[in-house]
Amino acid sequence: MQTITTVAELRRALAKVRRAGKRIGLVPTMGYLHDGHLALVEASRAQCDVTVVSIFVNPTQFGPTEDLSTYPRDFLRDEKLCRDAGVAVVFAPDVQEVYPAQFQTFVEPGELAKPLCGAFRPGHFRGVATVVCKLFNMVQPDVAFFGQKDFQQCAVVRRMAIDLNLPIEVVTVPTVRESDGLAMSSRNRYLDDEERRGALAISRALFAAADEFRSGEREVEKLISVAKQHLQTVDRLQYFELIDCDTLKPAESPVRRSAALCVAAYIGSTRLIDNVILVLPIQHHGSEAMDDAGLSHL
Ligand code: PAF
Repeated sequence: MQTITTVAELRRALAKVRRAGKRIGLVPTMGYLHDGHLALVEASRAQCDVTVVSIFVNPTQFGPTEDLSTYPRDFLRDEKLCRDAGVAVVFAPDVQEVYPAQFQTFVEPGELAKPLCGAFRPGHFRGVATVVCKLFNMVQPDVAFFGQKDFQQCAVVRRMAIDLNLPIEVVTVPTVRESDGLAMSSRNRYLDDEERRGALAISRALFAAADEFRSGEREVEKLISVAKQHLQTVDRLQYFELIDCDTLKPAESPVRRSAALCVAAYIGSTRLIDNVILVLPIQHHGSEAMDDAGLSHL
């Protein structure tokens, strides 16, 4: 495995790979890797010949009062995890390499960046879209892999790739969860024991609503109220919404298209997000049968 810190060196290394006709997969990360990231690496290794993991804590996606300076970092551990997982290249540029002096050109995402996290983190998706676009240009992968936990990020990045004619397939990989249901996140390390227990309310709320949906409930208000019963214990609920998967706007009731329940909540001072996709049953000769795709992680 090679660790590369400059774009020039990265280009040289990947030019050879490309000349050999090999397929390149990119897993963009901010480091402090966990099994969720390793699932992205696994997906990339299954579909591509060479996997590049980028590790870069991107300052432009953090708001002024957010956790940029305290974001967890452990580069040596990340490198070892990547080596053990069969990654070919770790690309770990510093801030000056990604944002040269006088940097002033951003990617501005549209409507998909406005609701949900976008409403509470102004500029966040502009920072994400900008850095992902830059990483796409630096690595020029065939495929890029993102975790479903960041549902809105996946939608924004996929739209950006289409809108900017980037010849890159954007793949969403299902959320990896701890055995008790908590979605894996680098930010889970901020939680003390009591908060860690409290954080379970988030996945329980989602699973409860998903269960109701599987039992046939289609009324948006009912599904949300079932979930919210579990969320009484979170310190601050930022949003809990049932949205249309394509537009990210509130789903119409009754739910008739694929929809997702998305949540952001504070446990102590830690902001966590999670979601589940609600897949409508496939109609078989007039009878209902639940298609479990997208709920397989429940
Ligand atoms: O999901 C993340 O870790 C980040 O938002 C990403 C995609 C690496 C961009 O900085």
